[in-house]
Amino acid sequence: MASVAILCIALALMNSICISLAFDTRPLLDFCVTDPIGIGKCKDPKAVTANDFSISGLDRPRPFNSYSVATAIASASTTPGFNTMGQTFIRVEFALNGYLPPHTHPRASEVIYVLEGTMEVGFLTSYPDHKYYSKVLNKGDATIIPFGLVHTVRNVARGKSVITASFNSQNPGFIFVPDSLFAAKPAINSTYLAAAFKLDEKTVKDLQTKLWYI
Ligand SMILES: *[C@@H]1O[C@H](CO)[C@@H](O)[C@H](O)[C@H]1NC(C)=O
Repeated sequence: MASVAILCIALALMNSICISLAFDTRPLLDFCVTDPIGIGKCKDPKAVTANDFSISGLDRPRPFNSYSVATAIASASTTPGFNTMGQTFIRVEFALNGYLPPHTHPRASEVIYVLEGTMEVGFLTSYPDHKYYSKVLNKGDATIIPFGLVHTVRNVARGKSVITASFNSQNPGFIFVPDSLFAAKPAINSTYLAAAFKLDEKTVKDLQTKLWYI
């Protein structure tokens, strides 16, 4: 009995270690549909249905924020069958002049496909080159954003544009550069930010109060 208890404790510890080190890789199972009751467990396969792998309404996006952007997402958070598959899929509508600020996905590369309109998409290479590869994409064009690099996405059509984006991670992560620096909680020291951006401190303090987009 004691040895069973020790084994259980060891397994429980391993499980928590496995969760904290979780990353996208080849799954051990055909699928692991998220169990709505047993958090962190796979749903009993007998209870899994086709609906667990599907989502409707990606053509009816919700307003994202003041960037004039609306999104609909298919991911493990919206669709339980996506769990452990290492993928996230979104559809995004950009109003006239809509854009996303420079951002990065620390855990994924991203394929962008233009369904409608015209988008300017670019990414920046690492220090010390900071080379900016950007391109205007029209309907039917696709491009890839390399793993983790800062990139820019903006609508340059005369009206709305629509894209899909897919990520090779269940949890790609979104780091919006302006917000992560100027809307940090608690705030990053403004003297330091002013020095780093070669701005006067007043401008930095102004940015720290106004930049709260997300
Ligand atoms: C920010 O850093 C400067 C310079 O080190 C320091 O004088 C100032 O007190 C700091 N500001 C805050 C709010 O901590």
